[in-house]
Amino acid sequence: MRNRANLIDDRPGEGVFRVHRDVFRDPAIFELEMDRFFERGWVFVGHESQIPQPHDFVTVQIGRSPVIISRDGQGHIHALHNSCRHKGAVVSPNPSGNKRVHLCPYHGWSYASDGRNLMVKDQAEGDYAPAFDQEDHDLQAVARFGNYRGFMFASLSADVPPLEAHLGDVRTLLDLAIDQAPDGLELVPGVVHYRFQANWKLQLENTIDAYHFASTHPSYLRLQERRASMPQRADAPKTIWQSANKPKEMMGSFGFPRGHAMVWTTTPVENHPLFEQRAQLHQRVGELRTQWMMRTRQLNVFPNLQIASSAAIQMRVIRPVAVDRTEITSYCLAPVGEDAQKRRQRLRQYEDFFNPSGLATPDDTAIYEDCQRGMASGAIEWQQGHARGMQRLVWGPDEHAQSLGLKPLTSVSGTFEMSDETVFHAMYRHWLEVMA
Ligand code: FES
Ligand SMILES: [Fe+2]
Repeated sequence: MRNRANLIDDRPGEGVFRVHRDVFRDPAIFELEMDRFFERGWVFVGHESQIPQPHDFVTVQIGRSPVIISRDGQGHIHALHNSCRHKGAVVSPNPSGNKRVHLCPYHGWSYASDGRNLMVKDQAEGDYAPAFDQEDHDLQAVARFGNYRGFMFASLSADVPPLEAHLGDVRTLLDLAIDQAPDGLELVPGVVHYRFQANWKLQLENTIDAYHFASTHPSYLRLQERRASMPQRADAPKTIWQSANKPKEMMGSFGFPRGHAMVWTTTPVENHPLFEQRAQLHQRVGELRTQWMMRTRQLNVFPNLQIASSAAIQMRVIRPVAVDRTEITSYCLAPVGEDAQKRRQRLRQYEDFFNPSGLATPDDTAIYEDCQRGMASGAIEWQQGHARGMQRLVWGPDEHAQSLGLKPLTSVSGTFEMSDETVFHAMYRHWLEVMA
């Protein structure tokens, strides 16, 4: 493996920021990423609305460890290693469900929804030595669990900062999504899984990559234009995305400590599901936050959560499987108590753009695979994809960040066509700090 300290060429004084291609293609680096980020750091594990009732659970994977997120009879949530204390079997093989008791399918040990061992089958007949009875047989709790307003995170290692410190300004940005309704957000039933044969960081980059939009998604843009010219398609889902014949739009980006980042764009707000309620929103959250809620905001919560807020809100969870293989789980988030017609509009916008059945995601995933194939040649060392916007870079918060009280490490703003790429730097600086 190349000396890890030399994988990111970061020379701000000279206007240089380059990422070495081994970062995306070296299996040894991937193994180390699993260890450093997914097994020793905070990882997103789900939204509380996935387990609303007592004894509801979901199973997830944190790095290489299977984990159950379970709500007990009192309503408390537990993150538990999904591995029987007897011989290691996964006690809950299902992705989700409701179980007061988890029964291990191998020798029949049973566990309560809070992880307590209820029974070692035929314990009395087992002629166990007293030493065995003194052992703790409960499902082992994951070292750290935290919940920020319904967004649940866990860490396999206890050696992490408090969740609030890990999230930092991300909390303010999650609030912009959560506070769209007085009662917060919920997951719309239904979940989509898809896989692609490329490195997980291509997904992290792409969501905050404005530069690809017009060239990767021309069919989507053309379809929008055709719909706009067809009065009989007035009920077709309307985009709030930037399009070629719209007046110039603004975009900006923030790079935060610990690898988080966000891109925002100003977009025509009249197609936003919140547009008609803007008077109530002003009253409840103020004019400035209403404006921010109606911008598109693409947020990366490093390492594995993405919240894409355009018209619909998409939540993507990234699971790296191998250096060149990634699994995405995607959900639609929506305000609790939204009226049926607005919910319908939101869902049509969501389906139109996102997921393997939408018009944009297939373009993106095909391109990730092309990138991974194209990077196979060891002859080319450095990417040139992290340089746009360099001349507009502001160290610390710009006026847009200040308006929300954010303290990013870097800020950039300009036209949509500037399509800043400095937004990736915070992620790779954090990456290097942890990896090296
Ligand atoms: S492995 Fe679970 S009871 Fe034996
Ligand atoms: Fe895209």
